[in-house]
Amino acid sequence: MAEPICRGADLVDGGLGVRFDVELGGATRPAFVVRHDGKVYAYENACAHVPVQLDYRDGEFFDLSRRYLVCATHGAYYAPETGLCLGGPCPGRRLAAIDVVEHDGAVWLQDPKTNFKPLN
Ligand code: FES
Repeated sequence: MAEPICRGADLVDGGLGVRFDVELGGATRPAFVVRHDGKVYAYENACAHVPVQLDYRDGEFFDLSRRYLVCATHGAYYAPETGLCLGGPCPGRRLAAIDVVEHDGAVWLQDPKTNFKPLN
């Protein structure tokens, strides 16, 4: 039986994200899920500029306005709904989205056959 990534209540709008590892294309990749305007969004934790993790491992993915995802390395900022880079060194590029759904009080990978490992 599939396990949820986290409880829905773990994700506050514009608050800390939950980090996890996910298997994609045969490789294990770092990923995260956040809540924005009430909905949950997940992405590979790899900046579209240089593929470093956005948050330096602390779950802080939003900028000070709490409206945009931001990379801690060079400040690229992204639309939480689409992963599109809106400014910084890589405008027009995107974070790699991971399909997630929220139901039964928890957040799940859309594809239950995809393996993941919670980190928090
Ligand atoms: S590595 Fe993210 S903005 Fe440069």
